[in-house]
Amino acid sequence: MTISFKINGKAQTVEVDGQTPLLWVIRDLLNLKGTKFGCGQAACGACTIHVNGEAVRSCSYAVKFAADKEITTIEGLSPSEEQLHPVQQAWIDEIVPQCGYCQPGFMMATAALLNKNPNPTDEDIDNSIINICRCATYYRMRKAIHRAAKLTQANMSASTNQEETTSETH
Ligand code: FES
Ligand code: FES
Repeated sequence: MTISFKINGKAQTVEVDGQTPLLWVIRDLLNLKGTKFGCGQAACGACTIHVNGEAVRSCSYAVKFAADKEITTIEGLSPSEEQLHPVQQAWIDEIVPQCGYCQPGFMMATAALLNKNPNPTDEDIDNSIINICRCATYYRMRKAIHRAAKLTQANMSASTNQEETTSETH
């Protein structure tokens, strides 16, 4: 079947069996290799992407459900090539990755969490980020999530201040 959607801001149309897991469309047809295959059973989170802003495990999400939706993968997480997403910045600052394989999925899950809950507690993090890391980077990851929350809040208040300054000068 023919399926159209937006991925990382660009319109795409694919010709594919509608039952194909979205993960394989992303990796094999669209050649975006940042999203990883781990378990293939919606258990590990390595394949996490966003569909209309929600974290989704793409290994277990048939591509037909993505029709007319907005998909974001790790390649599209940062607002521009010059600017990192706060989650990416926090991950660098806390030197989170070890082998790195699970990390795109964790970052996508974290970005989705912070969109809904800009200041999560440890309990919120434990309840929402249930991905698996074989290298057990969980401690650094939790620190990075708190750091990303602070960076997000700082960015938000900086842009509010800028808007106020702009409106005062007009
Ligand atoms: S590969 Fe999708 S959850 Fe593990
Ligand atoms: S960093 Fe190696 S699996 Fe998570």
